[in-house]
Amino acid sequence: MVTMNSKKILLANNEELLVRTLDTNDSELHVDFSNKIYDESAYLFQVDTSKNTIEKSSAIINRFKDAPRNFAIGAFIEQELAGLIYIWEVSTIKLYNKNCDLGISVRKSHRGKGIAKALMLEAEDQAKASDYKRLQFSVVSTNEPAIQLYKKLGYSEEGLRKSSIFFNDEYLDELFMGKIIS
Ligand SMILES: CC(C)(COP(=O)(O)OP(=O)(O)OC[C@H]1O[C@@H](n2cnc3c(N)ncnc32)[C@H](O)[C@@H]1OP(=O)(O)O)[C@@H](O)C(=O)NCCC(=O)NCCS
Repeated sequence: MVTMNSKKILLANNEELLVRTLDTNDSELHVDFSNKIYDESAYLFQVDTSKNTIEKSSAIINRFKDAPRNFAIGAFIEQELAGLIYIWEVSTIKLYNKNCDLGISVRKSHRGKGIAKALMLEAEDQAKASDYKRLQFSVVSTNEPAIQLYKKLGYSEEGLRKSSIFFNDEYLDELFMGKIIS
């Protein structure tokens, strides 16, 4: 993982945001974040539904720390983890190893303050430093806040996989988006 110094950002509402790589010491904040974020987010699906624990959070953080081209970046307001972005290598197969994927979320109480934008920009810098050429991901096609965020930052719609997600007895379309970053 690329090591990153912490960065202080003054948000438009004058709150100070600290953006930095997650460390094992953040496990308690991470487990609290994980326990709340899925209930607060209509289109965030918990793939691993086993109980969130500090041990599990430590393992996730360490897995990102130990992987050479993956990283987990947190956005902190005072002592709270307000937002989180993960970046990971799509494939170690050489044909695709210039592509990375991402997952981002911000606690409901901190949305609309510019935190996701700050995290995305930091992630792009880290991705460039890790020799990636493309950032790519998918989003549920009705997740307007996320789609607007990505479009604002220059990501393009690349395709639609119809009815690919089955959630709460409903079929959802998956929109693929991406951006060349270097
Ligand atoms: C999508 C999400 C990460 C945005 O986080 P955020 O910190 O509120 O976003 P920001 O304040 O940085 O907003 C940046 C831009 O995103 C867009 N945006 C954010 N929220 C929006 C909303 N509710 N409606 C429309 N556009 C929105 C706007 O273009 C905004 O720029 P502006 O404020 O200049 O208009 C947040 O809503 C979230 O965590 N959602 C649940 C998890 C999720 O869906 N993650 C994405 C999965 S693919």
